Amino acid sequence: MGIFTPSSSLPTSSTTTNNNNVRKRWLHLTFLLFGVVFVIELTFLGRRLDLSSDAEEVIHSWAHSFFRPTYAPPSPVIGHRRDGGGGGGGGDAMGRCEEWLERVDSVNYSRDFVKDPVWVVGNDEDWSSCSVGCKFSRSSAANKKPDAAFGLHDNPSTSSVIQSMESSHYYVENNIDHARRSGYDIIMTTSLSSDVPVGYFSWAEYDIMAPMQPKSEKALAAAFISNCGGHNFRLQALEMLEKLNVAIDSYGNCHRNRDGRVDKVKALKHYKFSLAFENSNEEDYVTEKYFQSLVAGSVPVVIGAPNIQEFAPSPGSILHIRNLSAIASVARTMKRLASDPAAYNQTVRWKYEGPSDSFKALIDMAAVHSSCRLCIHLATKIQEKEQMGPAFQQRHCQCSTKTGIVYHLYVRERGRFEMVSIFLRSENLTLPALESAVLAKFETMNHIPIWKKERPESIRGGDELKVYRIYPVGMTQRQALYTFRFNSDSEFRSHIERNPCAKFEVIFV
Ligand SMILES: *[C@@H]1O[C@H](CO)[C@@H](O)[C@H](O)[C@H]1NC(C)=O
Ligand SMILES: *[C@@H]1O[C@H](CO)[C@@H](O)[C@H](O)[C@H]1NC(C)=O
Ligand SMILES: *[C@@H]1O[C@H](CO)[C@@H](O)[C@H](O)[C@H]1NC(C)=O
Ligand SMILES: *[C@@H]1O[C@H](CO)[C@@H](O)[C@H](O)[C@H]1NC(C)=O
Repeated sequence: MGIFTPSSSLPTSSTTTNNNNVRKRWLHLTFLLFGVVFVIELTFLGRRLDLSSDAEEVIHSWAHSFFRPTYAPPSPVIGHRRDGGGGGGGGDAMGRCEEWLERVDSVNYSRDFVKDPVWVVGNDEDWSSCSVGCKFSRSSAANKKPDAAFGLHDNPSTSSVIQSMESSHYYVENNIDHARRSGYDIIMTTSLSSDVPVGYFSWAEYDIMAPMQPKSEKALAAAFISNCGGHNFRLQALEMLEKLNVAIDSYGNCHRNRDGRVDKVKALKHYKFSLAFENSNEEDYVTEKYFQSLVAGSVPVVIGAPNIQEFAPSPGSILHIRNLSAIASVARTMKRLASDPAAYNQTVRWKYEGPSDSFKALIDMAAVHSSCRLCIHLATKIQEKEQMGPAFQQRHCQCSTKTGIVYHLYVRERGRFEMVSIFLRSENLTLPALESAVLAKFETMNHIPIWKKERPESIRGGDELKVYRIYPVGMTQRQALYTFRFNSDSEFRSHIERNPCAKFEVIFV
């Protein structure tokens, strides 16, 4: 299944609360219907007992977890009585299906991460809070095995973690395939395809919305390149730009023509362009060179990640030198923008109006410390493993009525561990219905997005929630942000049908 599991303490759904009053009114009717109820209860039990012999039906639906109480309208009353949920029925059969699922389908895992936090060895604890119990320590203990440890080791119950922010073009062990082959279970690199990405970016580290300053320097661009080498063509590019009469003030060791003893970001603010040349052109490898240019409001001219446009604060806000043959045209663009204030101002419009949702969704990932994201990853894996065991073979995940099926799904915000329930109905198993169920659920909880305190105030938005992406738990951030989409309602429907109690993560912007 490859899909993980919800937390044990699921909040009561709003549906349940709303139905409480209605239920009281139904109580009287319940007594009247007692006789009928009794008969139906027998039928209900019968179905339950018949289940194992009804092999065809089981195969027709899901592998492990098919259970199908067929609710004639009063039958959920039976459900309440049987499960001690407090008498009385109410609402429609579908609504009561939801209540029933919420109750019987609450999942109890054996490990309580509050009492027994995820434990990682080999690093100091340096974050303030995490939505799952999480403990880091430098050294191991004699009597207990950690859940994970940095570095390779051969204890099968402890995951081996590799963590590095260096390019795999320099350190081949950071390459994802290489690291997996070497025996690492969890990979933390700058790659958004790694298990727990560790980027250079964060709202906390870079004041990305710092205001623009007058472009008082004469030279078009500033360069801070300390090492003229590199596994790419950055030195040749610098020389070619100079030959094409792009005036460059160089503060680094490479082609220096200005005194390097300056505050880099402060200096950059007065240049229209900043040469953000990385030492290698690797996907997602985007370092402080780039983010400092954004802080400074100096348009980055990038040599580096081939997918750098995914890191652009808005479309058309950065220049990318993909290869040597692109240099002449980038040089032309730089000169054109430099001599056209309105066009130049357009490239930095995001500084006034805020960056795109896509950029916010990317940087927001770092609102949760990578150590905490590691713990969430580990805890999710631990629950996923338990869910494969026998205790979980009898989960319900759906409930049928005469008018259709109610599906029980779980959702959590990216960066948090806890899941909450949502319900979708077979007659409306669509992407818009998913999004509106997610919004409704988080709105009734008065949910505050995890990035709220991290983002610069000017781009926090109001109190309303806006969904950016919803994707199955277990996907990488590359998939979640860029490559994965349910392409149609029918693709979504078949995902739900194939994954009992499907679990999703939502990114709010
Ligand atoms: C989970 O625990 C709750 C409370 O302890 C209990 O009511 C519920 O029946 C349990 N669910 C399962 C599937 O065991
Ligand atoms: C060089 O980059 C340009 C766009 O920047 C692209 O159109 C061209 O195909 C690239 N050439 C090579 C050889 O990759
Ligand atoms: C650039 O545009 C913003 C609005 O997007 C405006 O406030 C600002 O004054 C403009 N700056 C220049 C130099 O034109
Ligand atoms: C299906 O869900 C969408 C989104 O929530 C809603 O607008 C629509 O009315 C629903 N349709 C039916 C038939 O329930």
